[in-house]
Amino acid sequence: MSFEAREFRDALGRFATGVALVTARAQDARPIGITINSFSSVSLDPPLVLWSLATTSPNLEHFAIGSEHLIHILAHDQEALARRFASRMEFKFEGLQHGESSRGLPRFDDCLAYFECRTHAWHTEGDHVIVIARVHGLDHRPRDPLLFCGGRFAVLESASGNPG
Ligand SMILES: Cc1cc2nc3c(=O)[nH]c(=O)nc-3n(C[C@H](O)[C@H](O)[C@H](O)COP(=O)(O)O)c2cc1C
Repeated sequence: MSFEAREFRDALGRFATGVALVTARAQDARPIGITINSFSSVSLDPPLVLWSLATTSPNLEHFAIGSEHLIHILAHDQEALARRFASRMEFKFEGLQHGESSRGLPRFDDCLAYFECRTHAWHTEGDHVIVIARVHGLDHRPRDPLLFCGGRFAVLESASGNPG
């Protein structure tokens, strides 16, 4: 089977996912945030999750083994947040209201779930690093998710017009 990179991307894009935002702090305490959809569960005991980050990311070093980050699972009305953190703009946090987790990580309100993580292992594979993270804290609530499929954001039919 032979195929072009574009075709591979398009085929992978048929897999519908949720959307997550990962936040952390640089060594100088500057906030960092990246939109991802490569989030997945790995293990219940111990509690482990994974996500992958492009090796070209200027933020790669901030997710090294032992570093902390907060994974936000985004709700149906948080597309603007997802778009902002999928951009390469320099000051992604400028003008955005956010709080802090108990561990001092940038935290945006009203997400479906939060996973407070520490990088447990990472594996470079091709053009991405697979971050395996141990979950140290979590929080969740029943809201409708933001979805991503075929290169587009989407919401469940039940979420249209649903303020929850
Ligand atoms: C829905 C969606 C999902 C994404 N998932 C990932 C991902 O899992 N890993 C990744 O490295 N980039 C992903 N990206 C692209 C990054 O968000 C984008 O490259 C961003 O600029 C990365 O931030 P950085 O430049 O600060 O590293 C995704 C983008 C979108 C819109």
